[in-house]
Amino acid sequence: MDIARTPSTPDGNPQLADAAPEPKEPPLIRREDYRPFPWLVPEIALDFDLGLEATKVTATLTVARNARADTSQVIRLNGDGLQPLSVAVDGELVNDWTMDGGDLMLPLPGEAHEVAIVTEIDPSANSQLMGLYASNGMLCTQCEAEGFRRITFFPDRPDVLSIYRVRMEGPKAQFPILLSNGNKIAEGEGEGGRHWAEWHDPWPKPSYLFALVAGDLVARSDSFTTMSGREVALNVWVRAEDLPRTGHAMESLKKSMKWDEEVFGREYDLDLFNIVAVGDFNMGAMENKGLNVFNTKYVLADPETATDGDFDAIEGVIAHEYFHNWSGNRVTCRDWFQLSLKEGFTVLRDQLFSQDMQGEAVKRIEDVRVLRSVQFPEDSGPLAHPIRPDSFREISNFYTATIYNKGAEVIRMMRTMAGPAAFRQGTDLYFERHDGEAATCEDFVRAMEDGAGLDLTKFRLWYSQAGTPKVSADLSHEGEVATLTLRQQVPPTPGQPAKHPMPVPLKLALFDRETGTHRGEQLVMLDGAEKTIAFEGFAQPPVLSINRSFSAPVSIERHVPREDLVFLAARDDDAFARSEAMQELVVGHLVAAAGEGLDENERSEGRAAIREALTAILVDPGLDDLMRGELMVLPGETYLAEQMLIADPGRIHAERESLKAWLAGELGRELRDIHARASSVPYSLDRAARGARKVKTLALSLLAAGDPERTADLAAGQYDAADNMTDRQGALMVLAGFPSAARTDRLIDFYRRYRENPLVIDKWFSLQAMSLHPDAIEHVKALRQHEDFTLRNPNRVRALYMAFAGNPHAFHAASGEGYRMIADMILELDPINSQTAARFVSPLGRWRRMEPGRAALMRGELERIAAATGLSRDTREQVTRSLG
Ligand code: PHE
Ligand code: ZN
Repeated sequence: MDIARTPSTPDGNPQLADAAPEPKEPPLIRREDYRPFPWLVPEIALDFDLGLEATKVTATLTVARNARADTSQVIRLNGDGLQPLSVAVDGELVNDWTMDGGDLMLPLPGEAHEVAIVTEIDPSANSQLMGLYASNGMLCTQCEAEGFRRITFFPDRPDVLSIYRVRMEGPKAQFPILLSNGNKIAEGEGEGGRHWAEWHDPWPKPSYLFALVAGDLVARSDSFTTMSGREVALNVWVRAEDLPRTGHAMESLKKSMKWDEEVFGREYDLDLFNIVAVGDFNMGAMENKGLNVFNTKYVLADPETATDGDFDAIEGVIAHEYFHNWSGNRVTCRDWFQLSLKEGFTVLRDQLFSQDMQGEAVKRIEDVRVLRSVQFPEDSGPLAHPIRPDSFREISNFYTATIYNKGAEVIRMMRTMAGPAAFRQGTDLYFERHDGEAATCEDFVRAMEDGAGLDLTKFRLWYSQAGTPKVSADLSHEGEVATLTLRQQVPPTPGQPAKHPMPVPLKLALFDRETGTHRGEQLVMLDGAEKTIAFEGFAQPPVLSINRSFSAPVSIERHVPREDLVFLAARDDDAFARSEAMQELVVGHLVAAAGEGLDENERSEGRAAIREALTAILVDPGLDDLMRGELMVLPGETYLAEQMLIADPGRIHAERESLKAWLAGELGRELRDIHARASSVPYSLDRAARGARKVKTLALSLLAAGDPERTADLAAGQYDAADNMTDRQGALMVLAGFPSAARTDRLIDFYRRYRENPLVIDKWFSLQAMSLHPDAIEHVKALRQHEDFTLRNPNRVRALYMAFAGNPHAFHAASGEGYRMIADMILELDPINSQTAARFVSPLGRWRRMEPGRAALMRGELERIAAATGLSRDTREQVTRSLG
């Protein structure tokens, strides 16, 4: 069975495709072209005869004309790499069907019919991990967005909702556990060691939410009683050896179920909820109805093998997928342009949940850090798109930080404007109005207007315009009056040269310099290009705290003296604003240093201000360590580059490292004190102990920049004493940056300890690919040849190459070798797993913002990829956009 997408030669002439210098673009799909499907498919019965190398699928569809759509004499059933073995209509075999590309076109004369189609697929050959595939001897499915069409012919679009009945049969020894969506309604034994199970999902759903799992699995089981008193059986299915690492996932699930009832009024709607962990998975996890399929990375954890960050990520992803049961499944998307309807909203829901579980301030700072380091660059680069795109060629390319994270910020702004209680009225109305439907972003906005009482007429621009708005804030003072002038500008993005100003909700406060307090926070709406606000009763010029809690996803340019930032970094009562002041201090300094350059005087003044602010943070007894750690994190190099029109990554890296070294020299004693104090805190999962681990490794990595030798000993000591992965990984991360014997010893030790645990070996690959070691490129080349490396496992590929692409000094090596390595890998991976390969294009796409030497090298690699024949639709689209 063909599983790799065949090179697209729609004219069907391979010679022509070979000779043509310009490969043909796959077709553009437009939002405005949406038409309802001419047919309804109220029911589908799927029968699977399971085998790793050959699975036979019989799909029986009940179809009826859709009165709300145009009529059609032919039904288009999407397929991808499938051949029908037989097609029957109303019980009679037919052969008047034709193929259009991968789709089956079947003439249907009447009002309603039963269509039965048999296909056969080879799951073991499915390296794309879309559709039905084999992973570690088990069978599982991934259907979002368009994977169902790799299993059987079907209208594979989210606005066709059906009730699914699934029967599967196979050898019991090989597949003792047989799972699908909904409830198991029957099971039995067959001849020759075979067995079967039948599942029924009472909730109509689109094909992308279908799932099937068959394999040798064991479960951690528990139960949850819903708010109306129904008992739900819960299972987390894993391979037997992983069972001891499922406790945290189960706890996270129960917390999520409870929280969604309390905060959003959402109750679970089946008697069973299954989670399955799979080692080979393209994404984080998938919200299939009643049968969530997870990347093992977001299920398995214990203190020995998972970091505190892993624990948090698992809690967040479990919540995210669970929350989709309402935001995504009960109310789904009309078409894939509406993806942010479910993803943006669900990310906001998981963020609010994690804020409640882990503490609001730290979580908010972390979410904003991700937004700025991943989404902001996307929004200012060649792949920029609105949270509701107007067109795409391959939908897999639109599972982006913009759709997910900016989408969440846009809905969060509505919540900020309405307040939590009115926001809840809005979401209640949304769920009530659209339950059982395939809805649009516009439906959500209207429910918010009606339910929360907001006027979102102009706010809708956030759905249609791409680009991060730039807001400048100038504060002047005269007599008793402080005057704030706000101006906004939304930069041009591909296809959108001119922009309208957008409504920007800004929380702000004005601090009295003498008392260090303010008179209360207020929400100011900047709803045009410019706004001036006067504040009376200030004898002295106040200090401006703005975009508190990051109330709007914009970049703020505030023109204030450096002392104001030092002032806020030491005391702003809004935790985000406090961390922001610290960030701005460092960003301002490093951007100037790596840009036009600083004279000695400017350099020492800038550094002194940072030292003063950081000292206050290191010794402030009022801070808990989790927050102290946030405030100690220096802005990343990608974010710094983002602040510059044209960036030289070499200079940014050198300036940032030299600042770290200087700070380590100045604050060595404070940092060593923190390290010693934190090292005496015993392991536990409570806040204080987690905070101690966080500042411990942060102190270590700062110290490393100042005094490598002494710090290498400290790090080796932390490694040897570690009784948990957070400390061990932190120490090894620092050690991996130094050429030393301690480094080699500990890397060998780590590998030997954990060689049986793929998730920990992923960390081992990442640590080396991310390291500050001068030979990091050579290390990555060697690791590519390591017996544990494989391009077939997305986690392993990301562990090595995403880590590498995120390691500026190595990826941006002036020789261009880093760029070449990524391009080589993309070309090699593309035929195996195009969805994952395409995700590596965007680091190269930043070329326009780089100094000319690197820009040419990056562009050259993109051109080399573009010239390759047989490129997937996924990679082709990303490369073309990146060059355009
Ligand atoms: N819908 C999944 C989520 O965000 C992500 C996903 C997309 C998984 C496509 C697999 C394939 O929860
Ligand atoms: Zn999601």
